[in-house]
Amino acid sequence: MKNDLRQKLHLEPKSGWINDPNGLCYFKGEYHVYYQYSPDSPTGSGRKCWGHLKSPDLISWRSMGIVLFPDTTDDKDGVYSGCGFVKDDTLYLFYTGNVKEEGDHDYVTSGRGANVILVTTKNGHDMSDKKVLLRNSDYPEECSCHVRDPKVWEDNGRYHMVLGARTLQDKGCVLHYVSDDLENWTFLEKYTADDMGYMWECPDEFVIDGHRFLSISPQGLVHGKYDNQNVYSSGYYRMENGVLTDFTEWDKGFDFYAPQSFEAPDGRRILFGWEGIGDIPYTNPTTELGWQHCLTLPRELTVTDYGKILQNPVRELDSLRKNAAPINSGDTVKIDLPFDLAAKVAGDIKVRFDNILQLLHQNGEFRLEFLSDSASGGRDVRYADIPELRDIRIIADKASVEVYINGGETVMSARMYPEDTEITLSAEGVNGTLYELDGIEVISDE
Ligand code: FRU
Repeated sequence: MKNDLRQKLHLEPKSGWINDPNGLCYFKGEYHVYYQYSPDSPTGSGRKCWGHLKSPDLISWRSMGIVLFPDTTDDKDGVYSGCGFVKDDTLYLFYTGNVKEEGDHDYVTSGRGANVILVTTKNGHDMSDKKVLLRNSDYPEECSCHVRDPKVWEDNGRYHMVLGARTLQDKGCVLHYVSDDLENWTFLEKYTADDMGYMWECPDEFVIDGHRFLSISPQGLVHGKYDNQNVYSSGYYRMENGVLTDFTEWDKGFDFYAPQSFEAPDGRRILFGWEGIGDIPYTNPTTELGWQHCLTLPRELTVTDYGKILQNPVRELDSLRKNAAPINSGDTVKIDLPFDLAAKVAGDIKVRFDNILQLLHQNGEFRLEFLSDSASGGRDVRYADIPELRDIRIIADKASVEVYINGGETVMSARMYPEDTEITLSAEGVNGTLYELDGIEVISDE
């Protein structure tokens, strides 16, 4: 069947543009996903708002439309990214009110207002008045006017907030604030690292099984064959007594940026990313159809005893599997998108989707390689350094693929644009199960 590029598993807008996941939380029996939303244009121009989706189970969603518009002098040029924090019967939403001033609003020392704004809600969509908590004058003097993306959590009876920032010396950093009442915030400390770019966006500090992590989305990193291959990056540091150690990229594919995590009611830490990236060097073909971008699948995070995070699709997605069939090395099968392939691997592999793309492992190197310009938008290959390949899980939607390698130690995500929803899949080196997949449900209440 001709592919209309409308996905079955991924959250995406009906029209307009989506970028970062925002305000992720579980509140009053439902998961809430807010997101950066430009309703006026599939290229992200015009008003920047928060859209809202909610779900009892991460499978059936209701799309609730726009809940925050840039309608005050303190956020007139964008309700930028932020977070959700649940306390008692109230959801506190913190975001950046972006204000572009006359002249060059990207001049480092001036031209942009970056306000931390709070709204509260009792039901997830009716919002209180907006209250500005921090303005540029409240940030350390060494900061440029690029300060944004608050993420709030509670620890030992105190509230904490991290903000992403760029110093006047063009160094990316995170600002850590503390508060006793969620409204009055005091600067505590700055985190930074050498050779890690000029700006850190969308910070997220969290703990899994006693291990503390700081996720950042740095801009301006040096690109290597295996590392930081995209224009902007995303990854996490393990924190030891407040010191940042070992930066690990979240995703080695083409399309991943600005992830955010939250805690599910059963204690799992779940992460969504934007399955896209700013300033991409290609035109996503859905732009002509009036929309662009999507979020990643929700991923559950666990931690190894050596302090690395494993990412895997949330187990709820297993309920979408149907018509399981064995798939073995040498098989060639026809299957409709979306599908899920889970396999053990011994040695090298070559998994090919028609002449769209191939996943290769050879000589300790994993490649996600496009085979046609039309299916990739003109992009070529992404690499991961994987000395030993043990297992692989591929979830292919109608216009994207997410590859989970070695139990989720490495993930590679990419948008793809096949012309047809039926794929000829050839598999060398894998032995496992291939499932067809039902889609998630998204009902519109807009
Ligand atoms: C990350 C980002 C954030 C900002 C938002 C604006 O993609 O640039 O830093 O708040 O997008 O949409």
